[in-house]
Amino acid sequence: MHMHKLEKIWLIFGISCLVIFLTVVGVSAFYLGNKPPSCLTTVNPETVGQEKPFNEPGLHKVDGKAWDYELVYVASAFSYTPAQVEVPLGAKVKVIATTKDVIHGFEVAGTNINMMLEPGYISEYTTTFDKAGEFLIVCNEYCGAGHHLMFSKIEVVK
Ligand code: CUA
Repeated sequence: MHMHKLEKIWLIFGISCLVIFLTVVGVSAFYLGNKPPSCLTTVNPETVGQEKPFNEPGLHKVDGKAWDYELVYVASAFSYTPAQVEVPLGAKVKVIATTKDVIHGFEVAGTNINMMLEPGYISEYTTTFDKAGEFLIVCNEYCGAGHHLMFSKIEVVK
């Protein structure tokens, strides 16, 4: 089949454009990784214990923010720090959590807090504790032999 020179040039141009387009789409889709939206901030899992706010796990009152308290957790196989915390009823709390080692879950039973903690990433969730009582934090990602022993408690008090 005879092909005109100009036709050939356009064909090559067209194929090149397609290749460039697919490369751009492919690279940008995987470049940032596929992470849940709650895990956009990063932290070095090896120095988590020295880094703010994870050097001070627990409940902290904050000023000038859209929430009243920050509740900081560090998960590791097979526990959460802190193991128990008291939260005043009605408090608007930003939960900030990460893990030192492997992937752990962070589900607060009876609330809509359900996060995945990934090493190197910070998971956050802002909520108002408007029900008094005891809430159990459980790990819902299999993380090893002690997986079922991982828990922590939030006590919402008046
Ligand atoms: Cu931690 Cu399962």
